[in-house]
Amino acid sequence: MNTTELIEKLPKAELHLHIEGSFEPELMFEIANRNNVEIPYKSVEEIRKAYNFHNLQSFLDIYYAGASVLIHEKDFYDLTYAYLLKCHEDRVVHTEIFFDPQTHTDRGVAFETVFNGIKKALDDGEKKLGITSQIIMCFLRHLSQEEAFKTLEASLPFKDGIIGVGLDSSEVGHPPSKFQQVFEKAKEYGYITVAHAGEEGPPEYIWEALNLLGVKRIDHGVRSLEDKALMELIIKERIPLTVCPLSNLKLCVVKDLKDHNFKEMLDQGVCVTINSDDPAYFGGYMNQNYTETAEALSLSGEDIVKVAINSFEASFIEDELKEKWINECRSMLT
Ligand code: HPA
Ligand code: ZN
Repeated sequence: MNTTELIEKLPKAELHLHIEGSFEPELMFEIANRNNVEIPYKSVEEIRKAYNFHNLQSFLDIYYAGASVLIHEKDFYDLTYAYLLKCHEDRVVHTEIFFDPQTHTDRGVAFETVFNGIKKALDDGEKKLGITSQIIMCFLRHLSQEEAFKTLEASLPFKDGIIGVGLDSSEVGHPPSKFQQVFEKAKEYGYITVAHAGEEGPPEYIWEALNLLGVKRIDHGVRSLEDKALMELIIKERIPLTVCPLSNLKLCVVKDLKDHNFKEMLDQGVCVTINSDDPAYFGGYMNQNYTETAEALSLSGEDIVKVAINSFEASFIEDELKEKWINECRSMLT
């Protein structure tokens, strides 16, 4: 089996996906039109042309602007279901998606509108496409901890449908320590915690996410390699990193995919996974991320299977299902 075929056939879990980042320009146009919202682009091509980023912030500005056309429950449903169809094409059998409540509640869209639209689509995705899923709600780190507390409280009626909390948006200058108390409270409510750290920010932010926020996974974490003691810890404790290679390329975290440290971390025994982050903006969904990474870093078939196994190991699904998928991944090598 060649690499492309192997990637297409392998069952995979996606663990780092912002649902607002799966908003394709075609759907953005359609929803903007039906909601009578003006967007500053005349065509789908013009939107795509604007997707030239030089760092995280230059992307976030456009990403938040795009999300502002989402108003009704159906908008969130359509957005989420469109993503699930991509999962189905790519043999992503389980996905743990992020959403950013504050991006919507700050514009007057109710938490429940956002949540219900996403959740109904995920339920339909399980029924019709057989894709299992979880929802993780992220706090925007450029906003205050007090704002995050309000979001945490707003989530409580929907707690049964949300597995955990995360931390995203502008990293540098907004360390995990800024959110220590709200993460503490979230854990008291029974939420699992994860956080973006070490995408642009230093290894100290990864330490803080682990020691102060008690995270079970690090989102990105590509700067871990700069700190030997940190590497030892994440290898020994098998703390997963949800790496997003095409995102790293588009946001200039790496100049060339060939320079990416993914293979080095994999070889050192880190539980690294491959994910798409914001696929509508960064040029590809899961299989594109797998394929381009495999090509750039000369990943072997065994490497690729190991990464897919890592994705299930690092997921929050029950052990029995984990084992079933891991066995299926293993069988691809025989
Ligand atoms: N990093 C931080 N915040 C984000 C990202 C990201 O890659 N995508 C969407 N919000
Ligand atoms: Zn992300």
